[in-house]
Amino acid sequence: MSKTRTGSTMSTGAPAPSDRNSLTIGADGPILLHDVHFLEQMAHFNREKVPERQPHAKGAGAFGVFETTEDVSKYTKAALFQPGTKTDLLLRFSTVAGEMGSPDTWRDVRGFSIKFYTDEGNYDLVGNNTPVFFVRDPMKFPHFIRSQKRLPDSGLRDNHMQWDFWTNNPESAHQVTYLMGVRGLPRTWRHMNGYGSHTFMWINASGEKFWVKYHFHTRQGMAFFSNEEASAMSGTDADFHRRDLFDAIARGEHPRWKLSVQVMPYEEAKTYRFNPFDLTKTWSHKDYPLIPVGMLTLDRNPENFFAQIEQVAFSPGNTVPGIGLSPDKMLLGRAFAYNDAQRNRIGTNFHQLPVNQPKVPVDTYMFDGHMAYHHSGAAPVYAPNSGGRTWADQTGPMADGWEADGEMVRNAYMLRADDDDFGQPGTLVREVFDDEQRARLVDQVAGSLLGGVREPVLGRAFDYWKSIDADIGRRIEEKVRAGAAPPPAEGMGEG
Ligand code: HEM
Repeated sequence: MSKTRTGSTMSTGAPAPSDRNSLTIGADGPILLHDVHFLEQMAHFNREKVPERQPHAKGAGAFGVFETTEDVSKYTKAALFQPGTKTDLLLRFSTVAGEMGSPDTWRDVRGFSIKFYTDEGNYDLVGNNTPVFFVRDPMKFPHFIRSQKRLPDSGLRDNHMQWDFWTNNPESAHQVTYLMGVRGLPRTWRHMNGYGSHTFMWINASGEKFWVKYHFHTRQGMAFFSNEEASAMSGTDADFHRRDLFDAIARGEHPRWKLSVQVMPYEEAKTYRFNPFDLTKTWSHKDYPLIPVGMLTLDRNPENFFAQIEQVAFSPGNTVPGIGLSPDKMLLGRAFAYNDAQRNRIGTNFHQLPVNQPKVPVDTYMFDGHMAYHHSGAAPVYAPNSGGRTWADQTGPMADGWEADGEMVRNAYMLRADDDDFGQPGTLVREVFDDEQRARLVDQVAGSLLGGVREPVLGRAFDYWKSIDADIGRRIEEKVRAGAAPPPAEGMGEG
C-alpha cells in the first residue's frame, strides 16, 4: 500500500510519487525510463554544484548592519555614510589560495568582502585582512594566484613556485611580510581587522572629491595562532573559522568592527611623496590620521549556505553615488574581473538572485538570458525611445572621475621620491613587530624556504629579506643554511 509521509512535490509543484523507491517492473525488476521524478533527481544532482571561486574559494559569512555613528558628510554624500543611517549587509570571509575544502587555518591572507544593501543600490567593498597587496599591476594577478595554487604535473602546492614569484616581483615584499608575520594566521575571523586596501574616491554633496582608505578594526581584539596551533587545527577541524563565526552568532555574540577612514584631499595626491594609488603601500597615519565613521555588526547567520554564501557575488566595481574608484590600476582591473567571473561561476543573471538583489527597484535595459525573471513588461526595450521609458544620459565630466592624459604606454607607475619596495616592509618589521614577532617571522620564513625552495630562488630570497631588513635577512639565511646542512653521520660527533 502506498504511504505518503509528510509529502514533497516535484519541481513542477505536482505531488512527488516517492523519495525512496524508484519505479521498477516488479520489486526486483529494471527501472523504467518514464520515472520522471527519479530522472529529474539524477539530472539535477549532476548540476547542483557551481564552480568554486577561482581565488578565495573557501569561506563563509553572515548578515549584519552598518551604522554610521559619526558625521563624515563633508567628505561623502553616499547615503549609507550619512549620520545615523543603518544599512543591511552581508560579509564573507575567505582564504585566498586554498580550494573549497581546504583548512581554514592554513597560512594565507584572509578576504573581507562586504555587500552593503544601500538605499542607492548595492555597494561592495571587497578587501582583505591586510592593508596592502602583493602586486600593483592587474596583469600580474593571474600569475600571482597560479604561483600560490598547484603545480601542473603533481597537483601539489609548492614553496619554490611561491618564492620564485615573490622574489621576481619585489613589490610583493610588504604583503609577504604581513603574510609571514602573525596576520597570516588569524585565530578566528572575528579576531582580525579588515581593509579596503585600495584608495577609493569619496565625493561630497558640493562635488568636492577626496581620496580615502577604509580600516575596519575588530572590537574583539586581534588574536593569532602559532604555527603549531594552526597546523594542529587544520587536522582536527578544517572548518574551524567557519564554525567559530556561525556558533558565536548563534550564541548571540555578535562580532563588531569599527570603521575609520584615512582621507587625503584630492589635490594632495598629485604631489604626495609616494604614489598614493600604489596598492603595495600604506599611508602614514601621521600624515592622514584615522577618522571614525561607524560600526559594523554581524548578527544573523545564513539560513542556506549555497543561496546566500556560494551565490553571493561581490565586485569592487559596484559603487554608489558619493563613492568612486581611483587611478589604482589593480582596482581598475578588478572592476572588470568579478562580474565576469560571476557570469561564468553562477550565470548571466546572477544579479537577480535574492542575495545579490538590491533593496531598491532595478530598471535596466539589460534583460533576458538564462534564468532571467526580471522584466519590464511591454515597455520599450531600447533607448532613447518615444514610449515614455526614461534612460540615463550623463555627459561631460564625471562626478567620480579624475584627469588622465598622455601617450598610451605599457609601464610601471612613475616613481616618486619615497617610492621603493622595501622601505615600508622594513618599517613594519623594525617598528611594528616586537622581538617575539620578529623571531617567529625568521622561523616561519626559514621553515618555508627549507620546504623545497632551490637555487637560484633561495639566494634571491635571502637578498629579498636583507633588502627588507639586514638583520632579519641574515638570521633567515643562517637558519636555512644550518637547517640545510646534512646531519652529522653516526659516530662522527664531537668528543
Ligand atoms: C587585479 C587584481 C585582482 C583580480 C583580477 C581579482 C579577481 C578575483 C576573482 C575573479 C575572484 C572570484 C570572484 C567570484 O567568483 O565571485 C576574486 C575574489 C576575491 N578577491 Fe580578488 N582579485 C584581484 C585582487 C584582489 C585584491 C587586491 C583584493 C583585496 C584587497 C581581493 C580580494 C578578493 C576577495 C576578498 C575575494 C572573495 C570575494 C567573495 O567573498 O566572494 N582581490 N578575486
